[in-house]
Amino acid sequence: MRKIKVILYGVGAVGSLIAKFLLEKKGIEIAGAVDIAKDKVGKDLDEVLGIKRKLGLRISPSADKLLSEVKADIAIHTTSSYLKDTYPQIASLIKHGVKVISTCEELSYPFHTEPELAKKLDSLAKKHRTTVLGTGINPGFLMDTLVITLTAPCQKIEKIEAKRVMNAATRRLPFQKKIGAGLTVKEFRQKIESKQITGHVGLEQSVAMIADALAWKLDKITADSVEPVIARKTEESNDIHVKVGQAAGLRQKAKGIAKNKEVIALDFQAYIGAEEEYDAIAIKGVPNINQKVQPCVHGDLGTIAMVVNAIPKVVKAAPGLLTMKDLPVPSAALEDMRKYVSL
Ligand SMILES: NC(=O)c1ccc[n+]([C@@H]2O[C@H](COP(=O)([O-])OP(=O)(O)OC[C@H]3O[C@@H](n4cnc5c(N)ncnc54)[C@H](OP(=O)(O)O)[C@@H]3O)[C@@H](O)[C@H]2O)c1
Repeated sequence: MRKIKVILYGVGAVGSLIAKFLLEKKGIEIAGAVDIAKDKVGKDLDEVLGIKRKLGLRISPSADKLLSEVKADIAIHTTSSYLKDTYPQIASLIKHGVKVISTCEELSYPFHTEPELAKKLDSLAKKHRTTVLGTGINPGFLMDTLVITLTAPCQKIEKIEAKRVMNAATRRLPFQKKIGAGLTVKEFRQKIESKQITGHVGLEQSVAMIADALAWKLDKITADSVEPVIARKTEESNDIHVKVGQAAGLRQKAKGIAKNKEVIALDFQAYIGAEEEYDAIAIKGVPNINQKVQPCVHGDLGTIAMVVNAIPKVVKAAPGLLTMKDLPVPSAALEDMRKYVSL
């Protein structure tokens, strides 16, 4: 049986970690890579990854060009968070009949904020008989797929709460930057307002995915303003120094409201120096279900695994735009990847 052929679309912090993990795995091979960053285009992938093993793969600025030269079963897409930006990139992959797994947060459940683009993507994927999935650790697992899974033994549910608290000191630099770590409070608010930093993207998508899985009709989904978590003492990560009174990171909340009641409440906190780190889910119902994963799942390691473990499931999936709730129960793919799928 032949190996699964993968191309990387995006070789930034997450794409590079995924590439290195793929290189350790059996039954799968990297067939090419795309990125537009000036310091990456035209360079050898091994040089960009900082590894000694020669891969013989040059980073291309265009997926169209690459896919006219090499064949691939699936693309791992890791460029940006908003579907308006990533739509043309993902569409170009679909047109070559390549399946796509993307870490674009809005793609994890695009039907709420981008219904038109979601519809177009679904039709395009079906037309070209290919499959598209948005996933990652969050959105993609901790505050949606895992929550949905925990509702399985419930007869009735009144309310669902999920809270993630993490120490951002252990996360990749682009993540620390997008949560505003090390900015003054004024800079933090200005940069959030002008969208120079995004904060966490995906909470509304997680609320919408949970509601959809339960067939709950929400009156609305609300997202509170992104608030800085202010450092009470000096905090350090490898790359960022946070002074007392500066933003160490952020807190964001989103809610699902039905019949004037809050039925889903998500609370996300990521800041340098968080002492108690956890992922907690509380379902008020029959029976009540309370789960706390402590310390919280590491976001970068978890994202890499979520994406790679989804490969066999997406390779086998039906055509169209899918979300995590449409795939079989998520699980690790630890062995030779060919054991999970026959090509
Ligand atoms: N769902 C989740 O749990 C999850 C987890 C982790 C990350 N994410 C998301 O995944 C994305 C990637 O994260 P990251 O930390 O790896 O970001 P990053 O380090 O900024 O990497 C993104 C790479 O893609 C390149 N790129 C941007 N637009 C492109 C285009 N049109 N064509 C080709 N390449 C392009 C960037 O080049 P430039 O630098 O020149 O722009 C950069 O090299 C982010 O949106 C992040 O929020 C989601």
